[in-house]
Amino acid sequence: MELKKTLTLLIATVCMLTAMSQEFHASMNKVKLSFTIDESGKPMYAVFFDNKIVIKPSSLGFRLTDAAPMIDGFELSNMDSLSVDQTWKPVWGEVKEIRDHYKQLNFHLIQKNTKRLLDIKFKIFEDGVGFRYEFPKQTALNYFIISDELTQFNLAGDHKAFWIPGDYDTNEYPYTTSKISEIDNTEMVKTSTDICVRTVTDPNSVQTPLMMKTNDGLYINIHEAALVDYPAMQLHVNRTNFQLSSSLVPDAVGNKAYVHAPFHTPWRTIIVSDKATDVLASKLILNLNEPSKISNDSWIHPMKFVGVWWELQIGKSGWNYTNYPDSTDKNGQLIPNGKHGANTANVKRYIDFAARNGIKGVLVEGWNIGWEAWFGIWKEHVFDFVKPYPDFDVKALQEYAAKNNVELIMHNETSGAVTDYERQMDTAFRFMKKFGYHAVKTGYVGKIIPRGEYHDGQWMVNHYVRAAEKAASYEVMIDMHEPVRPTGLQRTYPNWLANEAGRGNEYHAFSNGNRPDHVCILPFTRLMGGPMDYTPGIFKLKNYGSDPNKQVNSTLAKQLALYVTIYSPLQMAADLPENYEAHTDAFQFIKDVPVDWDDTKIIAAEPGDYIVIARKEKETGNWYIGAITDENSRNIPVELSFLDKNAKYDATIYADADNADWKQNPEAYKITHITVDNNSHLVLKLAAGGGAAISVKVKK
Ligand code: NOJ
Ligand code: CA
Repeated sequence: MELKKTLTLLIATVCMLTAMSQEFHASMNKVKLSFTIDESGKPMYAVFFDNKIVIKPSSLGFRLTDAAPMIDGFELSNMDSLSVDQTWKPVWGEVKEIRDHYKQLNFHLIQKNTKRLLDIKFKIFEDGVGFRYEFPKQTALNYFIISDELTQFNLAGDHKAFWIPGDYDTNEYPYTTSKISEIDNTEMVKTSTDICVRTVTDPNSVQTPLMMKTNDGLYINIHEAALVDYPAMQLHVNRTNFQLSSSLVPDAVGNKAYVHAPFHTPWRTIIVSDKATDVLASKLILNLNEPSKISNDSWIHPMKFVGVWWELQIGKSGWNYTNYPDSTDKNGQLIPNGKHGANTANVKRYIDFAARNGIKGVLVEGWNIGWEAWFGIWKEHVFDFVKPYPDFDVKALQEYAAKNNVELIMHNETSGAVTDYERQMDTAFRFMKKFGYHAVKTGYVGKIIPRGEYHDGQWMVNHYVRAAEKAASYEVMIDMHEPVRPTGLQRTYPNWLANEAGRGNEYHAFSNGNRPDHVCILPFTRLMGGPMDYTPGIFKLKNYGSDPNKQVNSTLAKQLALYVTIYSPLQMAADLPENYEAHTDAFQFIKDVPVDWDDTKIIAAEPGDYIVIARKEKETGNWYIGAITDENSRNIPVELSFLDKNAKYDATIYADADNADWKQNPEAYKITHITVDNNSHLVLKLAAGGGAAISVKVKK
C-alpha cells in the first residue's frame, strides 16, 4: 500500500543556478549533491556528507555501438525539481512503514551536435543519493545498443573496502577486506575452485554492493536499485587514483544493453553516513524501487521452513535416484541406488517434524527426474519439472502436508539451462497450482543457456523478472538461488521473497565454509539489495559429514542470532531434525523467532566486526535480539530502552557458554531467563566466532 503524504514542487532556492558555471546543489540534512556541466559540455556530479567529500566530481555518460558517444557536448535545456515526503507500507519487511523523503533534481540535457536527449535524474535522501539516466522518446535516438556505461565514482581516498571479485556469473566468493589500492581479484578467482562457474575478465573489478569505510570514519555503500532490463553494474577499480567506474556485464557477443527509448537505467546508489548502523537501517534502495505490482497480495506470507536439503549437502543422502543417467533394468525401469533423499517416507518425517514444531514449510530437493546428469555438462535439456522420481508420491505427500497444516516448497533447479526452463515454466507452475505448492525455490547452478550468456547479463536479468512475474501470476512465492544479486525488486514483486546470490551457510558442507567475519560483512554488502536465503541454524557444527576436518565456523548461539541479523522473510531451519531434537531447549528460539516485523533497531554495528539488531514481532509486541561477532570475542552492552515503558518482559538469553569458541568448542551454549523492562541494560558476552540470541516476550 502506498500512502502519499506530501508532494510539493521545490522552489528555485534549492538549486543555485549561475549561468556561467551551470552548477546546481541540493541537500537533505547532511547529504549534499552538486551537479555541473563543464566547459566541454560534460555532465558531472559530486556528493558530500557533512561537508566532507564522498564522491569527488565524477563524469556520467555512455558509449554506444555504431553511434557517437554520449559523454560531452551537452547543454542543459531544462531542469525540474520536486520535494517528496511520503510513507508506504511494505507487504512484509523489517519495519511496518517506510518513509520516502527526498529532493529530486531532473536535468534535461541535449547533445548539441547530435540533437540527442538525455535526462539525468537525482534523488537526494538523508542517507545518500540515487541517480539514473533516462532516454526520452526522441527521433535522434530510438533503438540503440550500449557498449559501455561511463558512470564514475571518484573516491576521496584509499578507503578500506569489503569486496568480492567482479564475476559475471557468481556472488559466492568470500569477502576480502583491503584498501582500495590493494584490490586485485586474481588470486581469489584462481583459488575459488569450490564455485563451479567463475567468469572474471578484469582483475581490478568488484561486485556491488561495495562497502567502504574512510579514514575519517565515513561509511559509504555503492550499489544499484531496480535492476530491470539492463545488465548488472560492476565496478572497475583504478588503484592509483581511487576511481571506480561502472562496468556492465556483457552478453554473449560482448554488447551490454539493448535499449529502446523511452528507457531508463537502474538507479546508481550511494549510501553514506558517519554511523555504520545507518547503513544497515537505510531504506534508500527500497525507496528507489517501484511500488508493488501485485494488487491482491493476501496469498503472500513470510515463513520458516525445513527441508530435505542439509542431508543432501553433507552426503547423507542424494538428489539422484539412480547412479547413472542410463541405469535402467531390462524392463526399462530406473535402478534405485538406495540413497535417494526425496522419498515419500523421508519427506513425511520432515512434515511430521515441521508440524510438531509449528514450522510452515518443507522444501524437498531431488524430487524430480534429471539429477543423474544435472551438472557441468552444459546440455540443453536437464530436468523435467513435473515428473517425480518413482519413490516420491506427489499426491499423497500433498495430502499429508495439508492434513498437518504444512506446505511443501517446490524445487526447480535449472542447472543454468534457462531456455529449457522457460519452455517448461507454465507447465511447472500449473503443476504447482494443481498440487497446492505456494512457494518455489529456483536455482541456476552452472553455465547459462542461451550459451555465452552470463548470470548477471541483461538477458538473465530479464529472465529473473519474468520468473518472478510468472510465479505471481500463479500465486506462487519465489526464492532464487544463483541469480544476479538483488536490487530491491522485492518491493515491486513482494512474492519474490528471497535470493541466495551470495555465499551461504551451505559452503560449510562442501568447502572450507565461511570465515567467522563473513556474516558480519554480508548485511553491509549482499543484503543491502534484499533478503538472503542464507540457511542458518546448523546445530551440529562438527562431524556432520564424512570429512572430520570440516566444521561450521560459528558457535551454536551465533547460528541462532543469524535469524535476526540476516533479515529474510523466508528462513530455513537448515539442520537435520535429529540434530534439533538433541537440543530442544536451543531449538525453542528457532521455533519462536518470527520472519516478519513491525520494527527494527540496529543497536550496534561495524562491518566485518560485529552486528547487534533488535526486531519487534508483528502485532505481539515481543522483541528478538541477535548479536554476532567475528573471530574476536567481545562484550557488547545492550540497552533495552526501545521496549515499551509500561511493560515487563520475559527474556530468554541463548548465549555462548563461558568456554565456547567457534573453533574448539562451538556447540557450548547456556540459556538463562530473566525479567526485563525498558530500563534494563544487558552485557552480552560473545565468544570468539560467537553470538547471542534473545527472545523478549511481553509478560502476560
Ligand atoms: C545450490 C543451491 O544453493 C543449493 O541450495 C541447492 O541445494 C543446490 N544448488 C541444488 O539445487
Ligand atoms: Ca548456491
